[in-house]
Amino acid sequence: MKIIRTKDYGEMSRRAAGILAAQVILKPDSVLGLATGSTPEGLYRELAEMYERGELDFSDIHTVNLDEYRGISPDNDQSYRFFMQKHLFSKVNIRPECTFVPNGEEADAEKACAAHEAVIKKLGGIDIQLLGIGNNGHIGFNEPGNEFVNETHCVALTESTIAANARFFASVSEVPKEAYTMGIGTIMRAKKILLVANGEQKAEALYRTCCGPVTPEVPASVLQLHPDVTVVADEAALSKIG
Ligand code: GLP
Repeated sequence: MKIIRTKDYGEMSRRAAGILAAQVILKPDSVLGLATGSTPEGLYRELAEMYERGELDFSDIHTVNLDEYRGISPDNDQSYRFFMQKHLFSKVNIRPECTFVPNGEEADAEKACAAHEAVIKKLGGIDIQLLGIGNNGHIGFNEPGNEFVNETHCVALTESTIAANARFFASVSEVPKEAYTMGIGTIMRAKKILLVANGEQKAEALYRTCCGPVTPEVPASVLQLHPDVTVVADEAALSKIG
């Protein structure tokens, strides 16, 4: 695992955006695995600015997202599809038909998850997967548990994740209780992984991810077994790692 320590959120966003930009430049037909959450917002802003300056071309890029709430429509402003449109897809020249987010409107969980997994296979796999991290060490919506789940699946969100995500909703009762998420295997099959984290509230999770035992109780700890992981995190998030 390569760890890049930055002084703050702005530098984290610029460094991580630089890594994704290099991927787009070196392989213009890359498959980018994307993530939502407040952590990558600055990074997407940086990519949009690079595109505006004529430095990036997304016309041959495909994207696949990590996860989506179950039972939510794409035009709901809390859906991850909506987030991606707002923060990246509407700002760059990516073709809409080349962007894939699990279908939260599909009530049949098996069908929705198999379809997402099939898209990734058809595209030939993910070149680089961007990840944030939950306070409890979750990646995508792979919550702490007894096993690493391989493929895209439906999960029940933990109370702590529902509480953490309630800040985006009118009230905690409006936070969906389930989500479709890439599995740990789906994530681990990506050729490269880029994990971003900022703030003191991520310090414990990041410490357990990089320095603790590999265990499904800390889903991100599995990344220790991946051959090409870059962590870009600010000093606060890395405060427990010497
Ligand atoms: C959600 C997402 C994760 C994300 C996590 C952290 O639960 N499913 O993919 O990494 O939140 O979000 P934030 O970046 O807002 O802290």
